[in-house]
Amino acid sequence: MKILVFSSLNVDYDYHMDHIARPKETIVADSFVLAAGGKGLNSSIAIAKTGEHVYLAGVLGTGAELLEKTLLENNVDISLLDRQNVPNGHAIIQIDKNGENSIFIYGGSNACITKEYVDKVIAQFDEGDLIVMQNEINNQDYIMQKAHEKGMKLLLNPSPCNDSLKEQPLELVDYFFINEVEGEILSGCPEPEDILENMKLKYPRANIVLTLGSTGAYYYDGTNKVFCPARKVKAVDTVGAGDTFMGYFTYALSKGMTPAECMEIATKASSITVQRYGAAAAVPTLDEVNALD
Ligand code: ATP
Ligand code: RIB
Repeated sequence: MKILVFSSLNVDYDYHMDHIARPKETIVADSFVLAAGGKGLNSSIAIAKTGEHVYLAGVLGTGAELLEKTLLENNVDISLLDRQNVPNGHAIIQIDKNGENSIFIYGGSNACITKEYVDKVIAQFDEGDLIVMQNEINNQDYIMQKAHEKGMKLLLNPSPCNDSLKEQPLELVDYFFINEVEGEILSGCPEPEDILENMKLKYPRANIVLTLGSTGAYYYDGTNKVFCPARKVKAVDTVGAGDTFMGYFTYALSKGMTPAECMEIATKASSITVQRYGAAAAVPTLDEVNALD
């Protein structure tokens, strides 16, 4: 079984500050770091850090040498990446003294996926292979359709949760990874238990993974429900927690682990990510995860 992440790569501009700037307020950041990020890049690195082979598809633009270097250092297979002479996508990230963040992204290269490129990538995969997606690139509907036609299993984190999702065939998704905000938008329900039930009713094919930050996460497939509490740790920067969770869960799934085992390893891995600064740079190796009790 092969694993493909078809998604975004961002140059992250990380600013650490006392609090997140309010409307009309100008503040001075305490520090600045240029980091490798993007939900696709982060989750591909999480999978690669388990030692598993993973392909990342997407568009690498200009000014993104750091991203290529980081992907190569972490053994992500970038042979399928498209390269275009357009500015790479980026993210502006404010991180406050409690580790809380506020992010906006600019699509750039991530908005330059062509249908011809999608066809070329999907042609390399077969029935039963896994495709991991988020919602930071264009032509998502086409990718989902083509992957489904191939019989690939579709894992989606519908973030950012915006109007583009309305054009996407979400009924084809096999695994949703959502947080409370995305869950409420997609299901119309604010409470976790109701989100799970309503998501399952709306998307009967899908298994639902609902992450709840420092509270923990649920898995629900309509029959089995697993709740895995978050580990008690001191979080300094939660950027990339969801991507780490999704990456480790995908790895565990590819190894045939049970839902409870997938949840446990993903919870452990993301508990390490939140104790470190950065997105991709914060993702732990499988040895570090296995060292936790
Ligand atoms: P992000 O958008 O910041 O990447 P997300 O909103 O997609 O994250 P979260 O629900 O915040 O995802 O986090 C995913 C998982 O990471 C949680 O289910 C939990 O296991 C772990 N996690 C997140 N925050 C903390 C924390 N403060 N302490 C321990 N574990 C955490
Ligand atoms: O999920 C974290 C990621 O979201 C960051 O790395 C940033 O690039 C945005 O895509």
